[in-house]
Amino acid sequence: MTFPERFSNLPEYAFPRLRRLLDDHAPGGAPLHMTIGEPQHAFPDWVTEVIATHAAEFGKYPPNEGTPELLGAISDWLARRYGVRVDPATQISTLNGTREGLFNAALALCPEQKRGQRPAILTPNPFYQVYAVAALAVGAEPVYVPATAETGFLPDYAALPGELLDRVAIAYLCSPANPQGAVADRDYWADLIRLAEKHDFRIFADECYSEIYRDSPPPGALEVAREIGADPERVLVFHSLSKRSNLPGLRSGFCAGGAESLGHVKRLRSYAGAPLPLPLQRVAERAWADEAHVAESLAQYRRKYAIADEILGTVPGYRPPQGGFFLWLPVADGEAAALKLWRGTGVRVLPGAYLSRAVNGENPGAGYVRVAMVAPEQEMRHGLMRLRDCLYG
Ligand SMILES: Cc1ncc(COP(=O)(O)O)c(C=O)c1O
Repeated sequence: MTFPERFSNLPEYAFPRLRRLLDDHAPGGAPLHMTIGEPQHAFPDWVTEVIATHAAEFGKYPPNEGTPELLGAISDWLARRYGVRVDPATQISTLNGTREGLFNAALALCPEQKRGQRPAILTPNPFYQVYAVAALAVGAEPVYVPATAETGFLPDYAALPGELLDRVAIAYLCSPANPQGAVADRDYWADLIRLAEKHDFRIFADECYSEIYRDSPPPGALEVAREIGADPERVLVFHSLSKRSNLPGLRSGFCAGGAESLGHVKRLRSYAGAPLPLPLQRVAERAWADEAHVAESLAQYRRKYAIADEILGTVPGYRPPQGGFFLWLPVADGEAAALKLWRGTGVRVLPGAYLSRAVNGENPGAGYVRVAMVAPEQEMRHGLMRLRDCLYG
């Protein structure tokens, strides 16, 4: 029996690795999970109602790319949120959550060669792990670019050598960033889009945390592309109801961008995509049209930011996240800190190295732990106090 080589060097996924690190040790208190970024605020009441009303549609094959009503609701949301009007029929595809979309769009759009050479795909380091797997799946070289304190926790793609940039087919960028909570401002996006124009690559903008932010709504790649008059084919944006609407189990997101690129994404999807069941598309349609539940959830996240600032504000190196729901806390050694915290207090956090790759022996996540602020406020407060006293006391 033979197996493919292309995924053979993938490290074990973060969560089984964490179980291996911690599970042979007894927790030093009531276990509290601050590892997985699974939103826990309530989703809107009407979700169940909409599913029940449309339950008969489980008896139908759903349209691959989304119902016209859902695509229309997404297009209206993009216009309200970013002031960008895209054609719902040609410039949007629904997704089963952004993870599969971030993977499949690379399959649809990464060429076999770029200027006669093996293409490269850029990913920030640390990063959401699907970016690397997508690069390996299409035979591209994944290039891990540090997104550290020195670079404002976003990757400095412009600093890469010109010959490498000429081979780049796709650059992933996550804003607000998981895990660092950094937000790309208008200038960052404009510079990146101009770099993409100069070296002829596409940007895959992972904006799934766009509705969770501290001060003002983070700018999006599509709106900046339009502001600077860039070719709309340069940018694909990826959005999700998992974080915005606290519906990670709905598996509903979308990508939007230039009509030609979206045509390729949709064509692949018509052969190999897994469409979202119709009753769930109805829920998604309602969710994109409603902002009340999003505002309520945002208010809760803002209280959580305030709690984190209050408890950790005096910790050396603490950096309040600008967006998303993770804290990226500096420690001497992330694995040792996660183990100490579990054994000392029962609080479970993720070593930063599990979200990043060592390049030339340097792992930019090694000196961090990632803490998810998803638990109810009181629980989170107690968890952070236990963490502060154990790791920084
Ligand atoms: C940065 C980032 N991108 C994408 C996803 C995928 O989310 P979903 O597939 O639920 O939309 C996640 C989920 O945690 C994430 O953190």
